[in-house]
Formats: sequence, structure tokens, C-alpha cells
Amino acid sequence: MSAVAPIDYLLSRRSAKFVQAPGPSEDELGRILQSAMSAPDHGQLRPWRFALIRGDAIGRLADMAISAIKSAGLPLAPEKEANNRRWLAQVPLLIAVACRLDHANTKIPEHERLLATGAAVTNILNAAHMLGYAAFWSTGLGTYVDEVGEALGFDSLDYRFMGYVAIGTPINAPGTQPRPDYRQFVTEWQGT
Ligand SMILES: Cc1cc2nc3c(=O)[nH]c(=O)nc-3n(C[C@H](O)[C@H](O)[C@H](O)COP(=O)(O)O)c2cc1C
Repeated sequence: MSAVAPIDYLLSRRSAKFVQAPGPSEDELGRILQSAMSAPDHGQLRPWRFALIRGDAIGRLADMAISAIKSAGLPLAPEKEANNRRWLAQVPLLIAVACRLDHANTKIPEHERLLATGAAVTNILNAAHMLGYAAFWSTGLGTYVDEVGEALGFDSLDYRFMGYVAIGTPINAPGTQPRPDYRQFVTEWQGT
């Protein structure tokens, strides 16, 4: 069996929402999280923060987020609630993602911190894929309800809660995802 070239991992990555156990081992999870530390980061602010949610805590997260969504008066159809609970019941690992805003730092614009955190998540998605797992970034489950981020330890005054990354073994073998040709998105500027 020939080894997969690293570039081919990047070219073949695709998200899969529906995952089940087994999730990454402790050693694999450590490497996945360590990959986030290699993200580009202006000023070495390391703005990314991660909260691991595993095992029975995933059910408690579902209860907490659904109750916060309802308390905030946001619409949540019973089918959507049931779908979310069914999805989460199978997921072995969620990584809640937040960006530390660090208001005292006026040198690096806030959007650069958010971009660095997004880049850290991209590394996580790619690392999970390279280790043979599937991952999915979701901003559902009350991501934009302040109480949810706060319950996870991300006070909205100091952090921007950016959702969850689910990681596990794909329930259905992911097929290939058609990708656009990069030429549609690239120009060449020649300065004349
Ligand atoms: C910041 C962010 C938030 C996302 N939130 C959701 C979401 O809440 N629900 C959803 O269906 N897809 C969401 N997605 C998209 C999926 O994670 C995934 O990228 C998409 O299904 C396309 O699959 P692909 O990554 O294989 O191209 C989000 C993507 C990003 C970057």
C-alpha cells in the first residue's frame, strides 16, 4: 500500500457531521490539539481556547444549549431539537472553540485574532483527517446565545465563542467532495 502524500491529505479533506466512536485516543487528541498551536498568529497572542466535551458531558451540553436557546426566546422546532439530540448522542468528542479578545491589546486588530483562531481550527480539521477521523465545525447548538458560551467558560465580555468541532469515526464512509477549480478564485496582478 503506498503512503498518502501530505498534500493529498489537504486536497482530500472533507467534513462529516455524523460521526461515532471511536474518537481519537488521548495521544491522537494531543496531537490534534497541538496542531492548532502551529496556526499563524500575529503577535503570538495565542487567542484560541478549546473546551473538550466528551462522554456523558455531551448529553449535558445538549440539555444546557437547548434550554438556553429556549430561554433566549429563539425558535427551536421539536424536530430540530430531536435531530440535534440524535446527532450528539453518537458524537464521541466535541471541541468548543473560542477566541480570547484581549481588549488590552490595541496593536493587533480583533479580526486578526479571530482569523488566527479559525486557522487553528483548520489545523484541527486537517490533523483529524490525517489521523483517519472525520470532523465537522458547527456554529449550531446555541453558539450565538451568550449563556451557552458562558456556561462553557467563555464569558462574552472576554471571549468570542465560535462553535464546536465534532470529531469521530464517520458513520457513512465519506465520498469525494467536488471542489471548484482554484482558477475561478485567482487573478494575477502584474502591476502594469
Ligand atoms: C465557522 C463555520 C461554521 C459552520 N457552521 C455550520 C453549521 O452550523 N451547520 C452546518 O451545516 N455547517 C456548518 N459549517 C460548514 C461545515 O463545517 C462544512 O464545512 C460544510 O458542510 C462543507 O463541508 P466541507 O468542509 O467538506 O467542504 C460551518 C463552517 C464554518 C467554517
